[in-house]
Amino acid sequence: MRHLVTAALPYANGPLHIGHIAGAYLPADIFARYLRLRGREVLFICGSDEHGVAITLRAFQENTTPQAIIDKYHPLLEQSLRGMGISMDFYGRTSDPLHHEVSQRLFLRLLEKGWLEKRSVEQFWDPQAQTFLPDRYIVGTCPHCGYEEAYGDQCEKCGALLAPTDLRNPRSRLTGAVPEKRTSEQYYLRLDALQPKIEAYVRCQTWKPNVGPVIENWLKAGLAPRAITRDLSWGVPVPLPEMQSKVLYVWFEAPLGYISISQRWAQSIGEPERWKDFWKSPDTHITHFIGKDNIVFHTIIFPAVLMAAEEGYTLPAAVPANEFLNLEGQKLSTSRRWSIDIHEYLKAAPHRVDELRFVLTALMPQTKDRDFTWEEFATRINNELVATLTNLIHRILTLLWRYGGEAGVTPPDYLLQARAEAARTVAAKIEAYDFSGALEDILHLAQVANKSLTESAPWHKPQGEALSIVASYADLLAALGTLLEPFLPVRVAPSLRAQIGVELFPWERLEEPTPLISHVRLKDSPQPLVVKLSSEELQHLRAQLFPTASTSASSAPMEYISIEDFQKVQLRVVTIRAAERVPKADKLLKLTIESADGIHTVVSGVAQHYSPEELVGKQAVWVANLAPRSLRGIQSEGMLLFAEDREGRLVRVAPESPVTPGSLVK
Ligand code: MF3
Ligand code: ZN
Repeated sequence: MRHLVTAALPYANGPLHIGHIAGAYLPADIFARYLRLRGREVLFICGSDEHGVAITLRAFQENTTPQAIIDKYHPLLEQSLRGMGISMDFYGRTSDPLHHEVSQRLFLRLLEKGWLEKRSVEQFWDPQAQTFLPDRYIVGTCPHCGYEEAYGDQCEKCGALLAPTDLRNPRSRLTGAVPEKRTSEQYYLRLDALQPKIEAYVRCQTWKPNVGPVIENWLKAGLAPRAITRDLSWGVPVPLPEMQSKVLYVWFEAPLGYISISQRWAQSIGEPERWKDFWKSPDTHITHFIGKDNIVFHTIIFPAVLMAAEEGYTLPAAVPANEFLNLEGQKLSTSRRWSIDIHEYLKAAPHRVDELRFVLTALMPQTKDRDFTWEEFATRINNELVATLTNLIHRILTLLWRYGGEAGVTPPDYLLQARAEAARTVAAKIEAYDFSGALEDILHLAQVANKSLTESAPWHKPQGEALSIVASYADLLAALGTLLEPFLPVRVAPSLRAQIGVELFPWERLEEPTPLISHVRLKDSPQPLVVKLSSEELQHLRAQLFPTASTSASSAPMEYISIEDFQKVQLRVVTIRAAERVPKADKLLKLTIESADGIHTVVSGVAQHYSPEELVGKQAVWVANLAPRSLRGIQSEGMLLFAEDREGRLVRVAPESPVTPGSLVK
């Protein structure tokens, strides 16, 4: 049996955070590493998802091009994954011409096989940004409750599900412009006609308990034809002359990236046909690791496309989707800066990668959403990783060193049995995608060994006997050098193996209750594998990685100022008369304000929190006598006040009811 392991292709529009790692990349890596140790043939691939509105919108917001966005994030994503020890055999990208070719060919194949249908549809168009708008990028007044900021797909106030055409006074979230309705022609995939094939496929698989019901709900509702082309200029062009300004829908082509990236991998090893071993072979088991928001695309639409092509593609055998990881009780969000980004973690704690892997495995949201807190980060490291596991290892190594550092290894039967049993249950849990359960089994094995070592009390025995007692535990250490490899491969497992001078064992060997080694010799005095996280280190990490939360929780002593000092600041309420983005500055807005003495210009760093339209006509508090300064060539007079919340969100400060522009705040 051959294995293809994939992890969701991350959008190249922002950094990876701990939620991505715990959701898809870490489980995929543990699984792939385990299979390799089992001696299976494994191909583990991933790559950047570089199309779709996620990319175009980011480019628009940052005032740059989609190409510049993907060229910035593609390398960052790969470095972050490699830095976390994610052992992909190949990391590709969907802007690769080969990917375009594969996707276009598949599209034409479906067309030829009669699974596509052309339809004309009404869509909203932003005349200012010259783009069609996805539903979520339209805001307007909710027809049910009158809330003025309802989104085109849902009103967040009353919860009603909406279509953008339901909104009164619709506006584009991008530019504030009034969107126009335009009709355009799109190709639809006949999922309705494919439903019987999909059902036959879905029903003969076993799905994780959090995945099966999602699929069943879609099938029960009845699949509808789904548009697989879009009016966008960024993406894989639709390979038809009459569809010149259209691209393939990102969720049609991105999963095909798994195929095109496998082809790139095959080319990279000089065996261009090897990808077929994985994609055109009934002996290959394909596992897609994803987050829960991707379920329908991987279990229904992607298999439907593969089946519709009728070219003998291997279908996904398992889609072990995870739920979400939250951060301190709230949804992770890059845009709201409520996040721990991987590239920043790697910079702040480069020697603590396995520690983060450990905690994210323990907190993996396998069946329900889980919550990451810094508090728990520290306790899991200190009380489980160190206290239970690496302290035991260090204790054995230190005793061994003290009693001579070299001995024959004859482990008692109960230790061999315990280790073999653990290797079997860890394997079973990994194969059932229960990674945190597998890690617990390893911790349990360590607890058993710790207890037995304490009971055998070698320190009360004569030196020779003490040495042979301690050395009998070296078999367990040798086993841990392999058992830990899927989980802690960056430093912990390799360093353990180096200290006792063993290599990786085939997993099967661990499952047999026979000694792995007959002799052990330490070359050097033992080094602790992991050191506890002190509260200073924790605070430091937190402050570096979580700046917004730490400032509000800051315990720095208050520095008082006098009333005279305060009176030096002239605060006035002003009315914002005009607002525009500052070209090439993604954070800045140029605001024209009205005060008592007339009009002024202020450059404000709030463009990521407010669109220009949201500010025009509103009042704000202005620091009138702040020395003017030039920002991006614009003379900025004074400053407008915004409150910053725990999530780093900026909110305008304004009087309770409107006042004459220029009114003093005192
Ligand atoms: N980019 C998508 C996301 O982050 C995942 C794409 S997975 C693929 O949600 F299969 F489409 F590639
Ligand atoms: Zn509403």
